[in-house]
Amino acid sequence: MISMKKHLTLSQLTLCSALAFAGFSAHAQDIKGSAQAGQGKVWLCVGCHAIPDYRADYPLVYKVPMIGGQNAAYIASSLAAYKKGERKHPTMRSIAGSLSDQDMADLGEYYAAQTASSPNNPLK
Ligand code: HEC
Repeated sequence: MISMKKHLTLSQLTLCSALAFAGFSAHAQDIKGSAQAGQGKVWLCVGCHAIPDYRADYPLVYKVPMIGGQNAAYIASSLAAYKKGERKHPTMRSIAGSLSDQDMADLGEYYAAQTASSPNNPLK
């Protein structure tokens, strides 16, 4: 991701943020998550959230929460909070930073459709 960004010119970046901002203000209320779309995006998450009692050990030891079965809006808003820096966990911040509002809504719906005890949570 970082290396891709290096190849964007400043004007492309400015355009991107302008578009992202316009999209956010116009559509933030309208975004509807899709569990099916989310399924195509969880590859980013399963390395940590699929492993019962897994602890990420960088830079400190954190217990990775099980997010299957949580409320979709809670998951999407947690991701947004990491992206904005309101929640501080460094790995989650960098992951959430790459997600769009649509991605967050889709991931929220996907995980909400799971249960805490789904086999290999969060995969079916
Ligand atoms: C490198 C391991 C790792 C990866 C990959 C990862 N997470 Fe996390 N996630 C964590 C850890 C550790 C926490 C707990 C951080 C904290 O205490 O704030 C967490 C917290 C969360 C929370 C907050 C849960 C709560 O109960 O408040 C959500 C939601 C979440 N992750 C979703 C995701 C999604 C969706 C993805 C994929 C896009 C993902 N995570 C990828 C390790 C990871």
